[in-house]
Amino acid sequence: MQIAVLTGGGDCPGLNAAIRAVVRRALDYNYEVLGVHKGWAGLLNEGDAEALTAKTISGILPVGGTMLSTSRTNPMRDERHMHSVMRNIEKLGIDALVAIGGDDTLSVAYSLHQRGVHVVGVPKTMDNDISETDYCIGFDSAVTTVVDALDKLHTTASAHHRVMVVEVMGRDAGWVATFGGLAGGADYILIPEQPASIDSICQHLANRRALGKSFSIIVVAEGAILTDVEAPVDLREKDAFGHVRLDRRAIGEIAAREIERRTGFEARATVLGHLQRGGSPSVFDRVLATRLGVAAVDYVRDGKFGHMPALKGNRVVPVLLKDAIAQTRTVDGDLYELAKVFF
Ligand code: F6P
Repeated sequence: MQIAVLTGGGDCPGLNAAIRAVVRRALDYNYEVLGVHKGWAGLLNEGDAEALTAKTISGILPVGGTMLSTSRTNPMRDERHMHSVMRNIEKLGIDALVAIGGDDTLSVAYSLHQRGVHVVGVPKTMDNDISETDYCIGFDSAVTTVVDALDKLHTTASAHHRVMVVEVMGRDAGWVATFGGLAGGADYILIPEQPASIDSICQHLANRRALGKSFSIIVVAEGAILTDVEAPVDLREKDAFGHVRLDRRAIGEIAAREIERRTGFEARATVLGHLQRGGSPSVFDRVLATRLGVAAVDYVRDGKFGHMPALKGNRVVPVLLKDAIAQTRTVDGDLYELAKVFF
């Protein structure tokens, strides 16, 4: 029995921990493991993979990135590419495939499952927006970076009596902004799920000044919407899965400029960008990646294909890939109301 593992989409801390867990569990069952390079790109053309052993994965648990490399390659764009993937799966003697990735990678995994390939998914994305799971690998580490930045920005904001606008990633979901803002003591959190006017934000900042608060921290999600200021996306620049570059909107910079112009308060913008995807995984991500990686191989053993291990409460349970990719999981109103208690 040989299983393959790949990482697809944007990287994040915890991928290596998941790869390690997959390999270690597979070795328990005497399975051989093939590591596919560069996500789905490694199953195109001639195929690009390496044998993974206890030795090759040794020491990777705390290391960020992915030892297998990753890419945003989408074989579903061209039926010939899907055939190439299927052909390589057969040629390389892959009996089952563990695909670690976000909604894009998992949608390809689901399509392969529909075509009869033995696939199990593992949810990873710092955006934390996959349905049917409370947490995805990479989210906690990303938020930890955000909180560290907010702690640092607090001192400089306070020293200069400024408004600091911090733009974070997250695509069309505000999980990173909401958790980061909650844990980092933000004075306002702007997320795609809760559009707001710059006018109301300026009013909020003015109220804070009136109460004697000389500085403010605002966390803005890259996909956030200001109802009275334009921040258009450039539809010409899309990745293979059709996603636009949300960082190009520069919503943080736009908000900071407008705040300064309308209130007269000095404002600065910081874009955390890919820092949120770097570094060593947090404790939570190491444990989550380990639990999900082990569960994925157990699902292979049990023939539970077309499934993904998900964290629900504190339990890892199997969910259907079909349901996991059905829609983007967004921040619910209750959590945002909780965050609002503090601003
Ligand atoms: O999906 C993860 C993510 O980090 C998003 O939050 C962000 O919009 C995007 O990837 C950035 O992609 P890239 O690495 O291609 O710049």
